Amino acid sequence: MSRFFKKQTRWYKVFESLLEAEERVPLFQTETVLAGHKKICLAHTQEGIFAVGDRCPHNGFSLGKGWCTPEQTVVCPLHRYAFDLRTGRARTGLADYVDTYKVESRPDGFFVGIEETVFTLFGE
Ligand code: FES
Repeated sequence: MSRFFKKQTRWYKVFESLLEAEERVPLFQTETVLAGHKKICLAHTQEGIFAVGDRCPHNGFSLGKGWCTPEQTVVCPLHRYAFDLRTGRARTGLADYVDTYKVESRPDGFFVGIEETVFTLFGE
């Protein structure tokens, strides 16, 4: 990467609190939210709430309309391909993957972090 570009995480508040996130995304269910202009699938397992890209790489269906499993996967409802919520790798089907994102619960809300490449003229 050029010295004029750097990666940084931009945090988007998607819920007012962890409690609201857990109510809107019940255990073993998924939900699509917007983080900036990006559609994100939130998936709630016994290990917490994970965030992955909402678009299924197989044929573009919304993973937020699917469900998740105790094995930490999100399942696409259209053809039932499953993706690991920690790595994004497909557990079934083709060697596809979905992007994974960080989540953070803070006193002022529940956030999804999107890594972006930004231009910096002075390498700040
Ligand atoms: S569109 Fe998701 S598995 Fe086919």
